[in-house]
Amino acid sequence: MRTPPVVPLKVVCMIDVKNVTKVHRRGSLEVQALRGVTCQIPTGSFAFILGPSGSGKSTLLYLLGALDEPSAGTIEVNGRCLGAMTTRERDQFRREEAGFIFQSFNLLSNLSAIDNVLVPFLPRGVSSAQRNEAAKLLERLGLGDRAHHRPNQLSGGEQQRVAIARALLKKPKLVLADEPTGELDSENSAAILAALRSLCREQGSTVVVVTHEPEHIQPTDCVIRIRDGRAIECPAGG
Ligand SMILES: Nc1ncnc2c1ncn2[C@@H]1O[C@H](COP(=O)(O)OP(=O)(O)O)[C@@H](O)[C@H]1O
Ligand SMILES: [Mg+2]
Repeated sequence: MRTPPVVPLKVVCMIDVKNVTKVHRRGSLEVQALRGVTCQIPTGSFAFILGPSGSGKSTLLYLLGALDEPSAGTIEVNGRCLGAMTTRERDQFRREEAGFIFQSFNLLSNLSAIDNVLVPFLPRGVSSAQRNEAAKLLERLGLGDRAHHRPNQLSGGEQQRVAIARALLKKPKLVLADEPTGELDSENSAAILAALRSLCREQGSTVVVVTHEPEHIQPTDCVIRIRDGRAIECPAGG
């Protein structure tokens, strides 16, 4: 008798966090930033981690991107447990599967906008196809005529668009943004989030945005509310 073929379970959950705690240690000082967070983020969704300053939002985002490790609990991304990865697998995950966007843009001041977009590819050499892709992405973000400007010749909103292009060029499965509009006015913030939404929808990327401002949330978004290191409201959470 033949055994039936094993059908792999379809992963519908990009992020699955279970009972995660995080204690930050600075010298003898300990800060309990996360106190047992459980939450899930469906694949392909646009998610917000929402909560007041100091509630643990950035800590959670950094853990999702394997930029830091939890003190306890597990985090699965796209069906793989981050804690079970080797150092090399984690590096590869950060380099190839995750795209990071920070509040402070983090552009290199001596490089043009397009070269900043290409920074992740510089170590291995940039192909002309990648350069064309970068130019197209800048064009889509309304920066077609700014590609050869340096960061100090760009406004804050323009610099953040460059940082978004840099994060999206590798078509990451997961885009992680920490207060990406925190330094921008409300008009720029709305435009930037709209651009991030449409580009990520096209690419099929799952997006997680940390914010303390709820006004950009849409009804179909996945919202995880954090307070004092606990998820007080989230899909499938606790
Ligand atoms: N590297 C660190 N060392 C010590 N304490 C930290 C560190 N990072 C964050 N914290 C503390 O952890 C708590 C949560 O911080 P954070 O995750 O940055 O919150 P949020 O992003 O919601 O403002 C805060 O009390 C903060 O001071
Ligand atoms: Mg923060």
